[in-house]
Amino acid sequence: MPQNKKIIDGRAVASEIRLKLKDKIAQLSGRRPGLAFILIGNDEASKAYVRMKKKGCEEVGITSHVLHLSEKISERELLAEIDHLNSSENIDGILVQQPLPKQIHTDKIVEAIDPKKDVDGFHPLNIGKLLLGHTDGLVPCTPLGIIKLLRAYKIQTDGKEVVIVGRSNIVGKPLAALLCQKQPWANSTVTLAHSHTENLAEVTKRADILITALGSPGSITAGMVKDGAVVIDVGINRTMNTLIGDVAFAEVIEKASLITPVPGGVGPMTIAMLLSNTLKAFS
Ligand code: GUN
Repeated sequence: MPQNKKIIDGRAVASEIRLKLKDKIAQLSGRRPGLAFILIGNDEASKAYVRMKKKGCEEVGITSHVLHLSEKISERELLAEIDHLNSSENIDGILVQQPLPKQIHTDKIVEAIDPKKDVDGFHPLNIGKLLLGHTDGLVPCTPLGIIKLLRAYKIQTDGKEVVIVGRSNIVGKPLAALLCQKQPWANSTVTLAHSHTENLAEVTKRADILITALGSPGSITAGMVKDGAVVIDVGINRTMNTLIGDVAFAEVIEKASLITPVPGGVGPMTIAMLLSNTLKAFS
């Protein structure tokens, strides 16, 4: 448990969410929600992620199935597996762990998943619904987890300057779409910065809330952060078997009013939102 009052405890918030999900699932009559993971190849990071996600399922009462497929699988074979899961009545959610091997077109795979079972929220239909502000779609887990974390800590976003660094389809773009929605938990002025942004430090210094999803260890330094800013670090960089974020934590914590650690910040929230999306897909 983080002792420093500036540190946002993602593990604790995620644990509370899992308890609530466990309660809701325990009250269901009939079958439990079912989540299928497709894991391809032997990438250690992907295997570790799927293991953690599966453990989350077990904790809350979601039935999970892992389909571990060969690195050499063809696109056609993978599409056939997805077809089968799309029509399986016991499966409510399908997660194809990325990255995929080079012979597979990721877009094609994402688009093959039934949008109603797309618990990652990556399908174009779900991304479109998110952009339009429709609430019946499935929202990508990391952006949704960040919103829940901000709400758990009562961090005001309404009217605030939020700078997101990183424009990925998984984090940056959907998070920008969420934070500019006309909702009390959003209503932010959003800047989406990226590798071509000029004078990045000047842009990040404007942020009341700075969110980094770059994948560049320790690259956000104290000089890039406004005094009293809230700093959310989505970076998960594996360096010599340890996880470090995008933020130079030791120096940035001195300037921030609140900051997420890596690990123990956003990561556990991502998994909690996957479980929550699975229950939504089931319902
Ligand atoms: N690889 C890295 N993050 C993710 C994620 O959120 N979902 C999937 N499917 N693959 C990932």
